[in-house]
Parts: sequence; structure tokens; C-alpha cells
Amino acid sequence: MAAHDKEITLGDNSFTPAITLGEIAREVQGLANRIAADYAGRRRPLLLGVLNGSFMFASELARNLDMDCDISFIKIASYRGTESTGRVSELVGLDVDIAGRHVIIVEDIVDTEHSIEHLYRMLEPLRPASIEVAALLLKPGVYRKEIPVRYAAFEIPDDFVVGFGLDYDGLGRNLPGIYKIKR
Ligand code: IMP
Ligand code: MG
Repeated sequence: MAAHDKEITLGDNSFTPAITLGEIAREVQGLANRIAADYAGRRRPLLLGVLNGSFMFASELARNLDMDCDISFIKIASYRGTESTGRVSELVGLDVDIAGRHVIIVEDIVDTEHSIEHLYRMLEPLRPASIEVAALLLKPGVYRKEIPVRYAAFEIPDDFVVGFGLDYDGLGRNLPGIYKIKR
């Protein structure tokens, strides 16, 4: 695999480095510290990762979180190509009773916010004690703020990005840093 300070090609698009693995490690550690402080003294939180994109961020967040927690994953499908469609399907794989639990939804990116809003609306009736959102990336230029994103590691411009779990038509999820599309 090419060096991670270089332009890369995925399918028919080129991408340039935007956020390094070192920067991710530092910011996610900071988020984990905030979460540990905020949830101290409460029943242990449930980290609920949204597959597939959140798998690396969820792992990084979990291993930096210095407190007891539960970790589970769910799946919703909502995205194709480089523009968010807002389409969402059913929630798959929720295997934990979240009633009375402090749920932290773990997302790769909050872009148009459609998927997080949909998920939030599906979890609310299950009567969790609280729901917060942790996202590796937030696009403040797009985000409508219907659902508060309490924990965001990075705010980024409205450019399509890949890496560290995020894909472009299935490619780039395994890249250890974040790359942005070259226009
Ligand atoms: P939404 O637009 O906030 O609903 O985002 C839905 C999902 O689309 C996110 O959880 C990501 O999996 C994916 N997504 C949104 N923006 C990007 C991007 O820039 N790169 C790769 N995937 C994205
Ligand atoms: Mg996602």
C-alpha cells in the first residue's frame, strides 16, 4: 500500500491526505477522556456503533475509554456514491435491551444527519436513560442540529472523505488516516 502522505486513487477518484492517524489518536483520546468524566458515577454506558463505517472509530474510542462499558453494533443502510441520499432502511442487530441505559451512538460521520436522526427516532421509544452521539467527523456546514452531536472528534468542510472506516463504493475503509476527495 502507498505511503500515507501521498495522493491515492480509489476507483475513478483521487484523494489527498486530510487527517493523520496520529491526529485521530490524539483527538479520540480526548473524546474518551470527556466521556469517562461525563459518565463517571453513572451506570456503565453502552457504546452502540453503527456499522460498517464506525468500526475503527468505535474500536479506537473503546480502547481509550478508561471505564466499564458495553459495546454493541447495529446496522442501517443509507448511502451510495459521493452524495448522501437520505435513504435509510430498518435497524438491524440491536441485541441489547437499552431501557434505562445510557446509550452513546458511535458514528463515523454526521453529514446530512439523516441517518443519525432516523436512528435516534428508532431508539427513543425503547426508553433509554439517555442518548448521546459520538462522531469521528462532523460537517458543520451541512449538519442541521436536530440531533445534538455531543462528542465530535473533528469538524471538517463539506468534502467527501474516506479512510478510518469510511468508504467510497466499498473502497478505502482500511486506510489508517482520513483522505478527502480531490476536485
Ligand atoms: P448522513 O448524511 O449524516 O445521513 O450520513 C449517512 C452515512 O453516509 C454516514 O454514516 C456515512 O457512513 C456516510 N457518509 C456521509 N458522508 C460521507 C463521506 O464524506 N464519506 C464517506 N461516507 C460518508
Ligand atoms: Mg455510517
